Amino acid sequence: MSGVAQVIIAIQGVYKAFGAQEVHKGVELQIYRGEVMTILGGSGSGKSVLLKEVVGLVKPDSGSILLFGEDIVPLDEKGLFQVRQKVGVVFQSAALFDSLSVFENVAYPLTEVRGRSSVEVRPRVLERLRWVGLGGAEGKFPSELSGGMQKRVGLARAMVLDPEVILFDEPTTGLDPSNVRNINELILRLNQEQGTTAVVVTHDIASAEAVSHRWALLKEGRVESVGSPDELKRSTNPYVRRFIEGRLSEEGGES
Ligand SMILES: Nc1ncnc2c1ncn2[C@@H]1O[C@H](COP(=O)(O)OP(=O)(O)OP(=O)(O)O)[C@@H](O)[C@H]1O
Ligand SMILES: [Mg+2]
Repeated sequence: MSGVAQVIIAIQGVYKAFGAQEVHKGVELQIYRGEVMTILGGSGSGKSVLLKEVVGLVKPDSGSILLFGEDIVPLDEKGLFQVRQKVGVVFQSAALFDSLSVFENVAYPLTEVRGRSSVEVRPRVLERLRWVGLGGAEGKFPSELSGGMQKRVGLARAMVLDPEVILFDEPTTGLDPSNVRNINELILRLNQEQGTTAVVVTHDIASAEAVSHRWALLKEGRVESVGSPDELKRSTNPYVRRFIEGRLSEEGGES
């Protein structure tokens, strides 16, 4: 991050309930252009729902979400389509098309959404697959891959349009240590070399330290604390301390 920090995502006063369950009760969070922000929080604290709100897959009950300065909450599907061209998402579950090959899954945003020709698409898709360590797997189908490999295909797909912002929902969960390292390095490389802004949800505090400029900790529907990893580790807020110490001692296990 350099220069004057520019807000690329502003989450303002977001409320969301599913029936009687209030998941977000006034979430406030700003994400700066060029940063890697990690969202932490217990299981069920609303991390995945927050990412879905940022790309308009879940509508908040109230509040606004400014993406590149525009509130996306009131947008219809057509408006959201434009937004999603600039924001890549890696979902918690890989969310691949089972009937499409790995190549076709990764190419999908280019061919189906942007209508690009296959000559243009092929080298780009193969390069993204190499980035996630899946060079040579382009002819396989999702059912032939391990969960971790499927996840990496989802990652390659999120990167195929070179979006300005990528949201990663637990990108390293279920991967072996060497792939965890590779994915963390990839997030850093995208951030440092292409200036990609990244929002990462993770349970893995070591990965969170490796990749992020700032952490935000969700608690009971709000952002309890936000700051650099060092600031949060030195926090005097008892909840923040307990959360981080707990995660450090269990080395990134489930909450
Ligand atoms: N579409 C939905 N309908 C009803 N409830 C939902 C829906 N999506 C999420 N929830 C509920 O909202 C809460 C927050 O879910 P969310 O998936 O954001 O949690 P999370 O912080 O990502 O948890 P985890 O770390 O386990 O992935 C959960 O209690 C979940 O059951
Ligand atoms: Mg989740």
